[in-house]
Amino acid sequence: MDNFFDLNIPFAEIDRVDGKAKVTGKADYVAEHDLPNLTYGVLVGSTIANGTVTAIDTKSAERAPGVLAVITHLNAPKVPGYEEGENPAKGRTGGGGLKIFNDNRIRFNGQPIALVVADTFERATYAASLIKAQYNKEAPHTSLADAIKNDKPIEGDNYKEAVRGEKDAWKTAPVKVEGTYIMPIQVHNPMELHATIARWDGDDKVTVWEKTQGVVSTQQSIANAFKLEQKNVQVYAPYVGGGFGSALRTWPHAIAAVMAAKKLGRPVKLVLTRPQMFMLVGYRPEAIQHISIGATPDGKIVGMRHDAYAVTSNYENFNEGLVAQTKQLYACANLATKYNIYPMNLSTPTWMRGPGEATGSFPLECALDELSYALNLDPIELRKRNYAETDPENGKPYSSKFLREAYDLGAEKFGWKGRKPQPRSMEEDGWLVGYGMSSGMFGAFRGEGRVRLKFSGDGMLTIQSAVSDSGPGTATAMTRIASDAMGLPVNKVNFELGNSAFPPGPTQGGSSTTSTLGTTVSMACDSLKKKLVELLKTQESEIALADVQFAQGEMRLKNGKSISYTDALKAANLPSIELTESSGRNPEMQKYSAYSYSVHFVRVKVHPLTGVVRIDKVVSAGDAGRIISEKTAASQMKGGAVGGIGGALMEEGVIDHRYGRWVNNNFADYHVPVHADVPDVEVVFVNKPDPVLNPNGSKGMGEIALIGFAAAVANAVYHATGKRIRELPITPDKVLL
Ligand code: MOS
Repeated sequence: MDNFFDLNIPFAEIDRVDGKAKVTGKADYVAEHDLPNLTYGVLVGSTIANGTVTAIDTKSAERAPGVLAVITHLNAPKVPGYEEGENPAKGRTGGGGLKIFNDNRIRFNGQPIALVVADTFERATYAASLIKAQYNKEAPHTSLADAIKNDKPIEGDNYKEAVRGEKDAWKTAPVKVEGTYIMPIQVHNPMELHATIARWDGDDKVTVWEKTQGVVSTQQSIANAFKLEQKNVQVYAPYVGGGFGSALRTWPHAIAAVMAAKKLGRPVKLVLTRPQMFMLVGYRPEAIQHISIGATPDGKIVGMRHDAYAVTSNYENFNEGLVAQTKQLYACANLATKYNIYPMNLSTPTWMRGPGEATGSFPLECALDELSYALNLDPIELRKRNYAETDPENGKPYSSKFLREAYDLGAEKFGWKGRKPQPRSMEEDGWLVGYGMSSGMFGAFRGEGRVRLKFSGDGMLTIQSAVSDSGPGTATAMTRIASDAMGLPVNKVNFELGNSAFPPGPTQGGSSTTSTLGTTVSMACDSLKKKLVELLKTQESEIALADVQFAQGEMRLKNGKSISYTDALKAANLPSIELTESSGRNPEMQKYSAYSYSVHFVRVKVHPLTGVVRIDKVVSAGDAGRIISEKTAASQMKGGAVGGIGGALMEEGVIDHRYGRWVNNNFADYHVPVHADVPDVEVVFVNKPDPVLNPNGSKGMGEIALIGFAAAVANAVYHATGKRIRELPITPDKVLL
């Protein structure tokens, strides 16, 4: 595909276009949105993890003030999409999964057993407390360690052992490292609670305000569940207060809200509580992983083996790429991996930032670190000695790979050369000091997108797409691209999203929105340029597109003349130019492998008496192609580091395996970093364009911001203390023991 611009010219800085609305409270999030005649739904969860509901007493709730309906499996209206076998719309765009209120079976603790709808949220909450259920209890199975011992993993193509070259080559290598790594459940828990408002507009039309990363996928899921025409489901998601993957699918509570609104004939707002957020919108599955690496004395990896064991629910198989990075990151001819999942009395996990790779990179990047000490080699040098120049799985060239540059840039900014190689050799003010690093990678994708563009006589360029922005700054990046392409000031570009009536945009997942939709926006701008030049041709014959410069809102011709876009419109008697544009994958990409890369550098201070770990310095270096919006890109990397600090030092979903019940399903007990835990995270980008993936030269960034981070911290803790901690989070008790 042709590139429209000189990819080596960096984009100018841009402020976040929706920043003011967000910090002033003007942004309208679903839970805050109001409608006439609105009612409020509150879910009641089961208190057992496995068994059946034998009786449910809803009478006191029904009699409570303001209550309009109590829905349970005994009286729930039929969801037509539920009738067709299992999971009518499961998967990435899924609306199915758990069929809410469809039977009396309890599959996990906290599974919704009733929905109370009242005229106020408070009255619904009170009435929900009056619901009493009786159960036939069965033993809950929530312990992965027990399952590995006692049960068989799920069988299937995804779970077969994968071998490259010689399976056991690592065993006979001169230098070997081996270890078992444990990562607990982690939760997304974005600041904004998941929420749905559903309003039926007649028998076959519904309008839904939904916290979602996929406007179109939500529309499809609800249409499938209620057997509606897709166009008869209107979805609004103008603002999303964080997602990290939890809003990638349509969860059962959204179906419950749509169901209740139909039954009542009034709009229903359903906002999950914070505790419900731990159980009803997915999580990063617990994983136990064993990794072995064999190398030559000069640091060439001879062979690797990676066995991963993780949890899923007992009603859906959730798969992610736990072993993917092990196959990709280093040149290594001999490799065996096996991915195993076990069904549990837990809700279904889902993609969480760096899905799969964030988990899999923990053992891989810690093992590389361990190997560097075994070889007495700098960990960066070890990685460079095993640098994959082509994709080790298929030999394909990379569309672009600047990981080497990212190592060097990051090391320079961080001051890596100040590290003394010996563990427990650095000290400051009575604290042990440690330096750690790691690398991360994630596929760079580009999917299908569609936009509508309108250039008006008043000089405003409006571009619309049914996409949502869970935080990275999609509207900002699209504004930057359109502004640059058209030579228009940023304030003359308006990118509108979050509305299913706009042309279908991609689901915001897999770090691909900017690549996908940035392509569509570039192409739409190119089409607009062509149309503007056509207008010109009525006055100045024989003008080729290539001979026109588009800058500062005007077309500059070779003969020195210039005409503003708005004057060109006026002269042609046109109030506006409108067009739609779509784009898809680049077929050229079949010849290439495409990844983004990160390198994280962490300096920790560990207190030798208390075992407290403080993160003292962070530098994250990224190869994310050409950076489109520097500020939002840097913010995204910083957010990944904050999440990484949480995952490394604090986050741990604790289930009481006697009851299969969450112990710490709140922010008092499930710890996440606060400001005092986070230093001034520094970010540096290679900022070189990928020449193939898309016309803007960008690659994805959301996932690599986090992938590998936990290993960098664990490696720094080892360097500080001489103690290799293989279980997250790295809490003081583990440092001391
Ligand atoms: Mo991301 S886990 O694809 O929201």
